[in-house]
Amino acid sequence: MEKKDLYPTIFKRKSIRKFNLTPLDEKALEEISEQLLDLTPLHEDIKIEFKILSPDAVKRRMMKKAPHYIAVFSEVKEGYLSNAGFMLQQMDLLLSAKGYGSCWQGIPSLKKEALESSDLKFIILMPFGKPQEPELLHRTNISEFKRKSLPEITDIEGADDMLEAARLAPSATNGQPWFFTGDKNLIHAYYREPGRVKGLLTGKYPPMDVGISLYHLKLAGEHFGKKTEICFDKNAPKLKKEYFYVASVKLSE
Ligand SMILES: Cc1cc2nc3c(=O)[nH]c(=O)nc-3n(C[C@H](O)[C@H](O)[C@H](O)COP(=O)(O)O)c2cc1C
Repeated sequence: MEKKDLYPTIFKRKSIRKFNLTPLDEKALEEISEQLLDLTPLHEDIKIEFKILSPDAVKRRMMKKAPHYIAVFSEVKEGYLSNAGFMLQQMDLLLSAKGYGSCWQGIPSLKKEALESSDLKFIILMPFGKPQEPELLHRTNISEFKRKSLPEITDIEGADDMLEAARLAPSATNGQPWFFTGDKNLIHAYYREPGRVKGLLTGKYPPMDVGISLYHLKLAGEHFGKKTEICFDKNAPKLKKEYFYVASVKLSE
């Protein structure tokens, strides 16, 4: 499946936390492994590794068991969290489009052996498998998304179709820490640093959340037939001090 076919999945995906524990067959897992090698990075110079692990490798910490887990390991350098968000969201959408359930999960961790299986730092997990309730795999109406309104997340006019895709992105604790400014040809993306109390819950995730929403923006740009380029714009405006710049999306005919 081509990545650009994933745009419609933005409007129906949801986090699936209850899985049928029967493992997927080898062919299905092989396809998923191949897709993991074919993800588009946000930052090409950051080393990142994806592994498919069994539940035995995971400390689940209250989360329900899944038959398989994608574990993300990354080099730690500027942009690594937004890069991980941008890349793993491609899998979240792909899995949903293929009829599997998945969910970003920051709460579980890895057992020692799995943690030490990579030279890179363990970042996050995504359980996946057949959903326990297949009829609940997808949302059927946009009203089922609990999200902020467009005016709460952007001051851009004339790019609602594009920004709607970013608005619907998943985020840790559904915090939606993103803000978009600029214009319909150049959209700058920021995260808002949470206050101290909220920060205890959202932790390191706001830049990752913005990476996720940037992938939705890219898919929307491509869907609407624009040349879509992600860039890092030194001249992106400085917003209030709690807003941190992540990247920009340049859209041209
Ligand atoms: C970085 C990140 C970490 C998350 N961690 C967890 C988690 O540990 N446990 C969980 O149940 N959901 C987790 N979620 C899922 C969010 O709660 C969910 O995406 C959000 O509530 C929006 O719901 P939706 O994905 O169904 O649209 C996480 C999401 C993101 C993006």
